Formats: sequence, C-alpha cells, structure tokens
Amino acid sequence: MKLNKTTAGNIFLFAAFLMGQVIISVTSFAQTIIPVQTQHNALVIAAEKDKDIRIIFFGKKLADINEYKLLQGAYKQTEEYTGLASSVYTPSGSRNLLEPAITVTHADGNNSLDLRYVSHRQIKVDDNVSILSILLKDPVYDFQVTLFYKSYFREDVVEQWSEIKHGEKDKVILQKYASANLHIKAKSYWLNQYHGDWAKEMQPEESRLTHGIKTLDSKLGTRANLFQPSVFMISLDKPATEEEGNVLYGALEYSGNFKIDLEVDYQDNLRIIAGINNYASPYTLKPGETFTTPAFLYTFSDKGKGNASRQLQSWARNYKLLNGNGDRLTLLNNWEATYFDFNETKLAELIKDTKKLGVDLFLLDDGWFANKYPRNDDRAGLGDWQENRKKLPDGISSLVKEAQGNGVKFGIWIEPEMVNPKSELYENHPDWVVKQPAREEHYFRNQLVLDLSNPKVQDFVYGIVDNLFTKNPELSYIKWDCNAVIYNAHSAYLKNQSHFYIEYMRGLYNVLKRIRTKYPSVPMMLCSGGGGRVDYAALQYFTEFWPSDNTDPLERIFIQWEYSYFYPAISSSNHVTDWGKQPLKFRTDVAMMGKLGFDIVVSKLSANDLRFCREAIASYKSLKDVIWHGDQYRLASPWENDVASLMYVNAERRRGVVFNYLVSNRYGAGSKLPVKLKGLDPLRKYRISEINLYPGTYSSLENGQLYSGDFLMNVGFNPQVNSGRASVVFQIDEEL
Ligand code: DGJ
Repeated sequence: MKLNKTTAGNIFLFAAFLMGQVIISVTSFAQTIIPVQTQHNALVIAAEKDKDIRIIFFGKKLADINEYKLLQGAYKQTEEYTGLASSVYTPSGSRNLLEPAITVTHADGNNSLDLRYVSHRQIKVDDNVSILSILLKDPVYDFQVTLFYKSYFREDVVEQWSEIKHGEKDKVILQKYASANLHIKAKSYWLNQYHGDWAKEMQPEESRLTHGIKTLDSKLGTRANLFQPSVFMISLDKPATEEEGNVLYGALEYSGNFKIDLEVDYQDNLRIIAGINNYASPYTLKPGETFTTPAFLYTFSDKGKGNASRQLQSWARNYKLLNGNGDRLTLLNNWEATYFDFNETKLAELIKDTKKLGVDLFLLDDGWFANKYPRNDDRAGLGDWQENRKKLPDGISSLVKEAQGNGVKFGIWIEPEMVNPKSELYENHPDWVVKQPAREEHYFRNQLVLDLSNPKVQDFVYGIVDNLFTKNPELSYIKWDCNAVIYNAHSAYLKNQSHFYIEYMRGLYNVLKRIRTKYPSVPMMLCSGGGGRVDYAALQYFTEFWPSDNTDPLERIFIQWEYSYFYPAISSSNHVTDWGKQPLKFRTDVAMMGKLGFDIVVSKLSANDLRFCREAIASYKSLKDVIWHGDQYRLASPWENDVASLMYVNAERRRGVVFNYLVSNRYGAGSKLPVKLKGLDPLRKYRISEINLYPGTYSSLENGQLYSGDFLMNVGFNPQVNSGRASVVFQIDEEL
C-alpha cells in the first residue's frame, strides 16, 4: 500500500474546539492525517494503521485543515522511496537506507528495526499547550517508541521527544536514540550555525546545505557548547532576513553531548535528526525500562528571524527559564576587581561600594575557600568548600551580615562539579574523579571533573549548595561555574562505561532538581567560563547565564546580538568591566541590553564616572521591565552597519528603549540615516528622550519632540551616533 495515494471515500473530521484552540485529526478509510498545529504553523503527519508513518508537511499552516489530505498530490515523488525518507522517526536495519533516528541491537543480536503506526492521542494541557503522542511498534519484535510533540500555540513553539521501551527477553542495545526527526520540503536550505571558543562565543556562519549530511555536534561532556552550541537556524529557499523569509530555529534541550544531522536527501528534502550524541554511548535498555530522550525544540516563522526569536523569547520567559517573567538583581562582582587576592577588609570595602554604586547585590567570586591547599590561584583548592581561614576568618556569615548592614544582598560563586588534583577532596576521594584508571591524567584549567553518575558525588555536590544556604539563610544568589570539559571519560562507579555521558547528565539534573525543590526561587547564574553551557534544559534551573568572559563592549555587541536570537534579554548577565577601550558610558550602555551587573573597582571611579553609573542604574531600574519582559527588535545589525541598533518595547506598546552603538572606527562612521523603529502603534504619539548622558555632556537629539508611531516606524529616528557620541540610548514614551 502506497501511503501517498490520494484517499477516496469517507473523510470525516474529528474536531475538538477547546478554549479557542483546535486539535484535529482527519481520518479517511485508510489514513489519518495528524496536524501538530500552533497559531501560525503546522507539522502534518500521515499515518495508516500498521504502516509507515510520515511527515507530509512542515511550515505555515493552511487555513482549511481538510486540504492537508491534498498535500500528497502536491509533492510528486518516487513513491516507493519516500515512505522512509520522510518517516516521523526513521528506524534502521530494515528498509531504510538513509540516516536513521534510531538504531538498535535486539536481545537476540538482530540489528533490524521497523516502526509502524499503532495509535495517537492528543491531550490539551491548558488553553495554550497540547501534547500529541504517537505510538509506534515493531511488527516483529516487542519494541516500541512513543513520540511526543508538546506544542505551545501562541508562541508557535514545539518541543519534541521520544520514549523508547521494549518487552524482549533480555537487554536491547540502543545504538542511536534521537529526540526528533523532521522532514522539510523547499528549493534550498540555508544553515545558520555557530562556533566559538573561550571569549569567542556565538560566532555565526551561514551556508547553503548541499546534498549529504552536515553534522553539528559536541563530544565535550561538560561545557558542551564551548566549540559549538546546538542552536541553529534553517532558512528555506533563500537566507531569511530579520523581517522576511521562512526560517526554522532549532535547539536541543540538553547540557551534554549532542548531535544534529542535517541531511539533504536524494529527493532534495531536508531531514533533521537531533538528539543526544551517541558517540561512545550505546545504551543498554532493560526489558520494561523506559529511555526518555531530551526535547528538541523548534519554532518556525514565515516572517523572518526577528519574529522567530520573539516567539522563542516569549516561550522561554513563559515556560522554561526559571522565573522568566519575574525580577532580577543588579550586582557588583569582585572577579576582575580582585581575582583571587582579597581578604575580609577588602571585601567589606567592596560591599560598601556595592551600596555606593546603587546595585542590589555583592557577588563574591572564586578564591574564598580551601585551607590545606588554599585557592589562591586556579591550580589548587577546587573541591574544598570550606571558607579559607586566612582570607575569611569570620566566614561567609560575617560577609552576609556586612552586606545586610549596608542594605545590599550577598551572593557567592561555586564550581561544584570540579576538583583540582591539589585538594583534600581529591586526596580523600580519588574514586569520585573522572579519569582513566590506567592513563596519565589530563587537565583543563588545572582541574578534573567529578563523577556525577555516582550518587555519593551527587549528594556531595547538592551538599555544597545546601550547606551554604543552611549556614547562611540570607544568601541571595549563586554563580554556578563549570570550567572544564571531560577528558579521559571513565567512571569508577559505573559498571557500563558506555552509559557514562548520559549518567553524568542525569546526575547533574538530579542535583539541580533537588536544589530547586528545596530552594525554588533563589537566583542562580549558569556560567561556564563564559557561555560554554547555556541551553534550555539547564535554564529550567537558572535565572540567567553568563554569555562570555569577553566583556569588551565592542565584542559583546556581537556576542549578545547572536545570543538574542535564542535567549531573552532577562537571561543574559551583562557586566560592565575594564575590558576594551571604550569609555565607561559605552560599556554601561552595552551591559544594559540584558541583566545589568558591574565588575569594576568602584573606589577608583572618578566622581563623574560614579555619578554616571548611579544615574544609569536608576534609569535601568525604571526601564528594566521593558528590557526584561518586553519584545525585542534588532533594528540594525553590527555585522552590516557602522551603527548597531536594538530596541525593546513593552507589551502595551507604551514604552520602549533603543540602544545604538558605533561599531566601526573608520573616518566619518556614524548614523547617516534614521533608524526605523519597530513594534510601536502607528496611531499613537511618542516622546523621545536620550538617557545615560555622561555628566557634563548634552544630547544633540530633539529631546521631548513628539512623533507618531507611524513616523518613527516608516521614516525613523536618527540617534546621531558618531565618534563623539559612540553610544546613544534613548527611551520612548507614549504621550497620554
Ligand atoms: C570563569 C568565569 O567565567 C569568571 O567569570 C570567573 O568566575 C572565573 N571563572 C573564576 O574562576
């Protein structure tokens, strides 16, 4: 039976109209059409009992759901071969000869798998969220896969994952176990991918996909995104721009090794297979055990990249990021002010400076712990989480009190997954360390990774956080760092080394879950020597992430720009530091585009610098709601213009803020043309006023002038950025 034969006969609709959202299956005699629909898009699946099950459409949804049944006639292909190329979850070892989503070795040693449609179910979680599950079974072996599609209607986002299970007589080896398998039809496919390194995160690269497989992956174990994150974009037919084009954003919600295969097949379709990287990780599945993959996340926009990122950002704030719609703390961090060199007196001064600056919290960074091997540099002490008696004779609790006395909060840095060989932890528990028993140790930043697959190590790591809070209930913030990748992957605890990478991540998530059960709302920053670790599985437990150790503001404009495609501004910790050549105003203006913090020596600021910072922090506090919870529009790209512009508007379109930066130092570089604003109401009137003026300087803008939204969006507004005004921030307020 050919699945794409036009179906005749009785077609009936089963439609559930629930609170404005429609979940529909269209069933004919032979086949069921199952659309996964969101506000604007659809992924359409054709299923037939006991037969192959295929994706027949992905893109902007049709107005009339009945027409999905006509799709098969629209795409004429060699029918015999299309069935498995467009499979919803491609098995291997039977009729499929393309890249599989799943490969198994059955209990009897047989390597073949065939997955046929059995049934599906759609559940409405609430007025916005639905979950479709599709059960697939092998007709020969007692082996099944359930595919899950969790769709967020308003945000146009889908999370897809799989559950794998069997009832065979003995264990089955999962050689490959993807989260999702998509199939897309277009004339051409343009991949926007990212690569990076320490201080060079999120470097974009766009190229046309050619036939064959392009793989994005990581095998680093921890800090998995250091060289390449799993986030990517695929434009269909031509590269999408900010405002135009069909574009899919994808990302794996996983903090460990990942693998995303993008295969342009022999019939010019794009197959995307995304999941945990099966590198060195065949998984032994016991009868009755369920293997649940992480979710692969995607959103599609037919209105370009800007729309796709706003969809993703609202989804993240509403559903993923911890306290995504809530508040955040501005802070002063001491890392670059002191590095490891501090004592109680110095910290007491910094705490006073925190108050003087006008931020909410003082964050004590690396170097506060370890006694036998004091943490005076990065070669010793990691793992020994007792206060260093020389530096802090009165402990953390006295610092917390000092902060309270100054009316500010106190936060602390930890790197709980790691150990220096020069530490008591290493001496006492060599079996807790990830290393090959018979090989020489190999270090990354002089450290090794703890074996989180071991429940005792999980207890230890949980205990670090729990002890800090038990002893210091007023502690208000944690910066959780992770500065090493995994070399010599081996666990002294695990019997099956092939499970190591997976069990490490399970261990990490167990710890984070336990922390969040006891401390549900304390803000935590996800840091990994920069942005080597951010992803949406981790962000369920964290309120923010550290994009990069590179805080040179010019570099940051580019790095933050690229992160902004995938992560909301409220999650991006941006600190003003002494990196770079730009003046303090420029550095502060750039850091204000996300969650503002400082890492400078406040006592060395001139009176004007301090005044500027205090006023900028006050402006930030009045605008933070717009920056953190508003819609973001990238107006002018730093890659293409002398002046980069980015704006935020609140949901009511009453208030906005626009950041403009000179990113070229060529002669005469500056804003020659007005920048067209976005997201305003054309019929309303807005007043513009420049903020963050350095003391003694004046705005050259016509401050206070009223403009219609129509004017600002069609003609635009010139921020008059030039070498004398290298960064300009202005706010927009509706005239009521
Ligand atoms: C790497 C982080 O990215 C820095 O901000 C700082 O916390 C250091 N680690 C401390 O060792």
